[in-house]
Amino acid sequence: MPTTSTCAPSLASFPRPVTALVSGASRGIGLGFVRQLVSGGRARRVWAGCRDPEGAAALAELAAGSDVVRLVRLDVTDEDGLAAAAAAVGAEHEPLDLVINCAGVLHRPGGPTPERRLADVRADWLMEAFAVNGAGPLLLAKHLEPLLPRRDRAVFASLSARVGSIGDNRLGGWYAYRGSKAAQNMFIRTLSIELARRARGAICVALHPGTTDTELSRPFQGGVPESKLFTAERAVEQLLRVIDGLGPGDNGRFIAWNGEKIAW
Ligand SMILES: NC(=O)c1ccc[n+]([C@@H]2O[C@H](COP(=O)([O-])OP(=O)(O)OC[C@H]3O[C@@H](n4cnc5c(N)ncnc54)[C@H](OP(=O)(O)O)[C@@H]3O)[C@@H](O)[C@H]2O)c1
Repeated sequence: MPTTSTCAPSLASFPRPVTALVSGASRGIGLGFVRQLVSGGRARRVWAGCRDPEGAAALAELAAGSDVVRLVRLDVTDEDGLAAAAAAVGAEHEPLDLVINCAGVLHRPGGPTPERRLADVRADWLMEAFAVNGAGPLLLAKHLEPLLPRRDRAVFASLSARVGSIGDNRLGGWYAYRGSKAAQNMFIRTLSIELARRARGAICVALHPGTTDTELSRPFQGGVPESKLFTAERAVEQLLRVIDGLGPGDNGRFIAWNGEKIAW
């Protein structure tokens, strides 16, 4: 049984009820963020970005029962779509206080799985992983940055993974996932430097959620002790607590679910 929840964080660190956008909101951790942002009562609006709003049944049900949630079509590899999503969010003329990028790929059902050895590496899968996990968060930032408040606290958080840490890599393997998350980490760090010049209250971080029971991790949970496998609900609570506690000194950091700073 995965480790379950504690209690929802308040997001009191933001100066007003937040306008938030969550990408990869169709399922897993992203869906969990939308759920808890709504139930926590400190969200004015939650934009739930997903590639196929018509096919995201759980998310559509959540949106149908809430005045706060708006579904928006969003694929982090599609710049025209990102521009359209940003235009929809911008049309409300409210600053975007919180962006949480949850879009990510580790494997495709019936398709490529993480490489065990060099011979498993495939060009097409490398490109796909780099497009979604690496370039995706940066393109998302490119289109949403104009909507961030210029002075007030804002958080741009992207879900990375500890295995994307170069300093922490002791096991090898998983070339596409590790490499693409390492690329994401570099983009987040670089973005944090530029953002600090233009949006003075912005804090840009890469976050590691811990191993969480979702479709992404399910084929690889074998060796994970129960105490280290979180439900999506628990992972989201922990990450919201980290987000709520971020200060200006955390801009450009890679932070785990428990607040620990991870080596790049
Ligand atoms: N679960 C873990 O143990 C774990 C550990 C470390 C890091 N992470 C990271 O946490 C993030 C969320 O993972 P998860 O466990 O919630 O995975 P998940 O359940 O597989 O969900 C992945 C989400 O990403 C979306 N997505 C995939 N490609 C996309 C694209 N091109 N544009 C926009 N959205 C896209 C999927 O949408 P569709 O429904 O349309 O496919 C889905 O909503 C990922 O970045 C993952 O690497 C997870």
